[in-house]
Amino acid sequence: MTMLQWGILRPHHVLALVLCVSATEDFDWTKNERTSFYYGTFPTGFSWGVGSSAYQTEGAWNVDGKGISIWDAFSHKKGKIFLNDTADSSCEGYHKFKDDIALMKDMKLNHYRFSISWPRILPTGLKSEKINEKGIKYYSDLINMLLDNKITPIVTLYHWDLPQVLHEKYGGWHNISMVNYFNDFANLCFERFGNRVKYWITFNNPWSIAVEGYETGEHAPGLKLKGTGAYKAAHHIIKAHAKVWHTYDMQWRSKQKGLVGISLTADWGEPVDISNQRDIEAAERYIQFYLGWFATPLFHGDYPQVMKDYIGRKSGQQGLGASRLPVFSPQEKSYIKGTCDFLGLGHFTTRYVTLKNYPSGAGDNYFSDRDLAELVDPQWPDPGSEWLYSVPWGFRRLLNFVKTQYGNPMIYVTENGVSEKMLCTDLCDDWRMKYFKDYINEMLKAIKDGVNVKGYTAWSLLDSFEWDEGFSERFGLYYVDFRSKNKPRYPKASVHYYKRIISSNGFPNQREVESWKRKAVETCSSSNQLLAADPLIGHMEMVTEIVVPTVCTLCILISAVFFMFLLRRRL
Ligand code: NOJ
Repeated sequence: MTMLQWGILRPHHVLALVLCVSATEDFDWTKNERTSFYYGTFPTGFSWGVGSSAYQTEGAWNVDGKGISIWDAFSHKKGKIFLNDTADSSCEGYHKFKDDIALMKDMKLNHYRFSISWPRILPTGLKSEKINEKGIKYYSDLINMLLDNKITPIVTLYHWDLPQVLHEKYGGWHNISMVNYFNDFANLCFERFGNRVKYWITFNNPWSIAVEGYETGEHAPGLKLKGTGAYKAAHHIIKAHAKVWHTYDMQWRSKQKGLVGISLTADWGEPVDISNQRDIEAAERYIQFYLGWFATPLFHGDYPQVMKDYIGRKSGQQGLGASRLPVFSPQEKSYIKGTCDFLGLGHFTTRYVTLKNYPSGAGDNYFSDRDLAELVDPQWPDPGSEWLYSVPWGFRRLLNFVKTQYGNPMIYVTENGVSEKMLCTDLCDDWRMKYFKDYINEMLKAIKDGVNVKGYTAWSLLDSFEWDEGFSERFGLYYVDFRSKNKPRYPKASVHYYKRIISSNGFPNQREVESWKRKAVETCSSSNQLLAADPLIGHMEMVTEIVVPTVCTLCILISAVFFMFLLRRRL
């Protein structure tokens, strides 16, 4: 922060800074209490919600003046997304938001986390070129209706859908000019919606934007710039976040009285052997390269020391003149430090971590820079996405880590949930009920440990487009029938279960909590019948489950036989 800005600080700014910039405590790696279920309730006023994002749910990709995003462009290229799915129509959330708010009202939610599509509002990405009033109206109506129903909007400004023009012209987050363009977009959102929106999240999961978008290329824009791509993109994202926070702080905070945070996603990393110092250090590197990469600059002003050391050393061994990890100037450090009114935390799973040395050489990349190996326990339940094992105790560990490292900031859990495979049409999702029950319980234990968690957002309201996995992984509390034009929603049993947690504000006592699952399963069997009555489901299931793999296998076999036949003839 510059001297000029210090000059006009008001008392509430100082309070926000004191909350954000606090000392680090030591995290006790050796203490992993895996205690039994804890019956109790959350603090009064604890906020319960669900989440979604624009590209994953809205559909309406090219209507009412919306511009193209990098995800529209990426998903339209063959071979990028599972089964070449696109979110062109997805859940049709753009047209069905009123129905969705009715679902939220029925769940008695306190908040709804959604994101604004930048190109829906600014089709070319630039405020100076064109503002799409129809896009503004859509979000304005959504916000108004949420407020009419007493649901607090928590709004993410960037959930990965960069305007395609900004990628084509400038290279997206690889270009420093994104900082100003994003700031203009954010400023417009504050101007148009800030009288009603009090919780702003600048970026959703910047780790994913940087690593999957610019390093591995699995996500849009699909760049594979190993060893440099992610670090450079992240550097600009952190600067963009800080700039937007300052814009809000200087221009809007006193009038609008809202908060600006970021949503960071991190798995927990547990040392394989908690009595082995090298495993502890490896686990700590795992977390610092994941969460600390973004959280440490925002809370303490610079990258974690361990990232600077490892990437710097490996860059030197590669013969590079400078570290592949960019450097913040002293002015930038103080400008970035303290720009977080609350920390949004997304969390889904855990890994065991141990030391593994990657000798520096040709293949340097983000993953090998960390010098570690990730392991999983084969006993951990794994109901849906390949990467998602249910390990509830990891959540409590992560929350306590945040408390110790960043001065016990105000936390909103912005994502937590579990998926099932596409072909699963069983609405009696007992694995999800168990996941929510146990993860929410670990969060309750963390609050008892003193972690400052203010709200919880179940991910997600609806089954939706799961990025490069297309529609093959369903995270929704509501099942969406994507084959039907109207995209009907059906409640899974976990809707009823989550409703019970919300209405009791936690887990009142064993007898009651045990009855919840029974009751939820009773309600879901009728929804199952409704869904089964849809003839498309059974048919499509057969096509994707039996016909497609059989035809593929046959093709491979026939080509192999044909190839062998040709070979023999040649010989
Ligand atoms: C994090 C992302 O923010 C969200 O969009 C995605 O659906 C979930 N992870 C599940 O993978």
